[in-house]
Amino acid sequence: MKRKVEPGIAEKGFIPLCVPHLSGNEWKYIKECLDTNWVSSAGPFVDKFEKMVADFVKVRYAVACVNGTAALHISLLLLGIHRDDEVITSDLTFVAPANAIRYVGAHPVFIDADYNTFQLDVDKLNYFLKTRTKKTAKGLMNKDTKRYIKAILPVHILGHCCDIESIMEISRNYGLPVIEDATEALGASVKGKFAGTFGKLGVFSFNGNKIITTGGGGMIVTDDPVLAKKAKYLTTQAKDDSVEFIHNEIGYNYRLPNLLSAMGCAQMEKIDAYIEKKREIAKMYNEKLSEIPGIGVMTKPYYCETTFWLYTIKIEEKEYGLNRVNLMKELQKHKIETRPLWQPMHLLKPHKNSPKTVCDVAEKLKKRCLCLPCSVKLAQKEQDFVIEKITSLQKV
Ligand SMILES: Cc1ncc(COP(=O)(O)O)c(C=O)c1O
Repeated sequence: MKRKVEPGIAEKGFIPLCVPHLSGNEWKYIKECLDTNWVSSAGPFVDKFEKMVADFVKVRYAVACVNGTAALHISLLLLGIHRDDEVITSDLTFVAPANAIRYVGAHPVFIDADYNTFQLDVDKLNYFLKTRTKKTAKGLMNKDTKRYIKAILPVHILGHCCDIESIMEISRNYGLPVIEDATEALGASVKGKFAGTFGKLGVFSFNGNKIITTGGGGMIVTDDPVLAKKAKYLTTQAKDDSVEFIHNEIGYNYRLPNLLSAMGCAQMEKIDAYIEKKREIAKMYNEKLSEIPGIGVMTKPYYCETTFWLYTIKIEEKEYGLNRVNLMKELQKHKIETRPLWQPMHLLKPHKNSPKTVCDVAEKLKKRCLCLPCSVKLAQKEQDFVIEKITSLQKV
């Protein structure tokens, strides 16, 4: 079979932010699904993909899901989080974890970000727990809302890890289980242990812009056989007898099809090379952009190995001459796609009444940060072009 060869990104006259790299066995494995008729939710690639992810992050079990948001939803159900509970999470994140908390009727409690690492600020988390909560016979009560806090859902953003060891210590001190949203941090680690494997449950996403993609997909990982079994059960319509259609619980159709799992297997074969490339891209940006006044480069947090999934700079307008919005517009004129960080959760309409710490740092990061092109297949000349433009736009 002849494949159409995609032209280089620059030849298309456009440098995208972060797009998939499909250079391995994706076609072969997907063709195998088509040839064998195993295209739907059953099939050998589902088990294989689960095993590949579990082996890669060194956990016992992985359960494939239709996407990362569904995987978060199921994880919350697995920990028994329900109506009127509270779940502590990051303020600076994509909206999915906050939404998933709301799907089960619970309320997020937003913790501000750390300026240097972008991740949940552990000092503010500690301060919140010390000053705003009370240990009671029924659990940890939020003194302001009188609701009970049932879990911590830290989000590892941009390819870095949260200070997860400190979060695990807090989890032990307060008896709060942890679900890690590691959707953006597959391959990042702390002292050799991977993001997503510290808490009771970890979640990955294989959305199009993630470090590996299945087009859309997600995964729950855990070392707990009971949770893993229940995760499979809940994501596959809670079938107690699949012949007689007995369902003793409300289940979900959150399965990842064999077709997409096939793509995941091909992508997992390349993950080490992809992470390596992301790190090279970050190194090059750091070397070239750190000289520019007013541009704060993205550095590795001291406590973790990062993948630099989405390379992000901080812009000081007074020194650089342009603010984030104007730099974005200027780069757009040169067909360079960039993206700001997400709106902090406490500012979003559906979540603005949720409890929170002071979240001024998340707001500052939102104002100042810009994510730069960092696709795995970003060519050297394309990166040089981006660097040249950012350099030439600085005030003289
Ligand atoms: C931090 C975070 N959590 C959750 C998700 C949800 O994953 P999905 O798009 O696979 O549902 C994403 C991204 O897409 C994300 O960036």
